[in-house]
Amino acid sequence: MNRLEGKITLITGASDGIGFEVAKAFVNEGAAVVMIARGAEKLKASAAQLAVAGGRVLPIPCDVGSTSDMKAAFQQTLNTFGRLDVLVNNAAVAIPGDITEDSDAEWNHLLNINLLGVFRGIKYALPPMLKQKKGSIINMASVQGDRSWDHWTTYAAAKGGMKAATRQLAGQYGPQGIRFNTLSPGAIDTPMNQQRAKDEGPELYEMYQRMHALGRMGTADEVNGACVFLASDESSFVSGIDLAVDGGLLVLPRN
Ligand SMILES: NC(=O)c1ccc[n+]([C@@H]2O[C@H](COP(=O)([O-])OP(=O)(O)OC[C@H]3O[C@@H](n4cnc5c(N)ncnc54)[C@H](O)[C@@H]3O)[C@@H](O)[C@H]2O)c1
Repeated sequence: MNRLEGKITLITGASDGIGFEVAKAFVNEGAAVVMIARGAEKLKASAAQLAVAGGRVLPIPCDVGSTSDMKAAFQQTLNTFGRLDVLVNNAAVAIPGDITEDSDAEWNHLLNINLLGVFRGIKYALPPMLKQKKGSIINMASVQGDRSWDHWTTYAAAKGGMKAATRQLAGQYGPQGIRFNTLSPGAIDTPMNQQRAKDEGPELYEMYQRMHALGRMGTADEVNGACVFLASDESSFVSGIDLAVDGGLLVLPRN
């Protein structure tokens, strides 16, 4: 409790799945949480759930794929709270594709949300953090940035690009007190995967179970602990790492 007391935090993709569970954990640890997501209705309901439990939350409907939306959301955050201590770039879409068939428009759509959405968050979080000479930026990557799965090239490239950008920025902004890290979940049972199971069939979840050393998928709330750690001052000397929360997936051969 209270490991994030007094911290102003912003989480993208906070209305559902991992982002919502991280928002809940941040609130429980004493942080104020700006919740960003694309669908206004779902966001309102998710924020209300945390507010009823006593959380200090500010929901802002915003598409991370839009520069004007993101600029306005960060401005509203600063107008409301006057500072920003932690950014969790979590929003993403999961769209498979085939490199021989994908169109430029399909590549641009995915990269605009999953990679450039992260760039936008960093761009607007840095000025207040640099003024404070302190900040923690956590980018939600994936083990998919390190492993090969057929037909997920663009998604994996966005996650791999995010990991490279994180290391780059950790070096560049470390002297000014800003920490950058990525967090790489294994397969987690969230609406994103529930939709995929609907589209691809029950074999998907059977494969997910086999893929992890622990013999099961993760739950959305199992990513929280690592995220609270990276957001809190307990990780004050941790920067430029990729923290895998993957049930041992990366130690097994490809399934
Ligand atoms: N679920 C997994 O197995 C898994 C594994 C590895 C990494 N991840 C990563 O974790 C993060 C969260 O995944 P999840 O499974 O909880 O997803 P989810 O689909 O369950 O939730 C995604 C959230 O992002 C929001 N969102 C999507 N597009 C957006 C946009 N353009 N602008 C603003 N908000 C947007 C949605 O509204 C929702 O709140 C993603 O970055 C995903 O790539 C997930």
